[in-house]
Amino acid sequence: MSAHAAPTKRLTLGDLAAKKQSGEPIVMVTAYDFPSAQIVEEAGVDMVLVGDSAAMTVLGYDSTVPVTIDEMLMLTKAVRRGLEKPLLVGDLPFGSYEASDELALATAQRFIKQAGVDLVKIERGGTTVDRARALVSAGIPVVGHVGLTPQTATSLGGYRAQGRTADAALAVIEDALALQDAGVSVLVIEAVPSEVTAALAPLLRIPLIGIGAGADADGQVLVFHDLLGIYAGGVAKFVKRYADVRGVSVAGVQAYADEVRDGVYPAPEHGYSMPEAEAARLREMLAER
Ligand code: KIV
Repeated sequence: MSAHAAPTKRLTLGDLAAKKQSGEPIVMVTAYDFPSAQIVEEAGVDMVLVGDSAAMTVLGYDSTVPVTIDEMLMLTKAVRRGLEKPLLVGDLPFGSYEASDELALATAQRFIKQAGVDLVKIERGGTTVDRARALVSAGIPVVGHVGLTPQTATSLGGYRAQGRTADAALAVIEDALALQDAGVSVLVIEAVPSEVTAALAPLLRIPLIGIGAGADADGQVLVFHDLLGIYAGGVAKFVKRYADVRGVSVAGVQAYADEVRDGVYPAPEHGYSMPEAEAARLREMLAER
């Protein structure tokens, strides 16, 4: 018998469908590097999104728009190395899929071949529905994203809730249904009134993951840096902070800085030593120079 532990079984789309069927909420969260991947794995989430929110949370851009395919691939590969069980979703950045089916396919294939993602996420309805259909027919599982779509936030009037009138709500629902018809495996719905999610959920066969969309979705997603209180920027109304990692981190670095300045760190136990005879020989050698 092998002494090695059995490898952890990766979740499948079938597992997500089973959760939807049984009413067990699906937990999704973002991660952007090796340690955050290990943390979310250990916490036992179901799906991990290397979101283009990385543009703001880890790369310091002021929106998600500037982040490049290469930057996203580097982060996504690091997450892949830290992840075993959850499904991994790669977020195709702005400008990397919209123009044609060929472009969408080429970009999605890079995320699958180079970063080992299980699914790719693309934003909006409209022409994105055609891109989704092309990806699905090429055998690539897709996550759609409707409601507030940050890549095109400017055309939506900024980072604000969508679907707040009956007409606007119907437009969001129609985008979602068109993406489902195109064959996407999962839908994310962001920043819409809970009434919109409640109306949409019964119309879907696929799992619906909400972010700022109320409690009627099949699961929830939040940004790692928001829920842990790492990101210094403002957070949306729907974010709940479960920790103050930024506060703990600043206090830790301040304590280190104080100890270095006060000569408290490093203490003898933090250093290496050499045998006294070698130290004496070194002193002699230096004296002879
Ligand atoms: O980029 C991201 O983190 C996202 C989530 C907010 C769904 O798209």
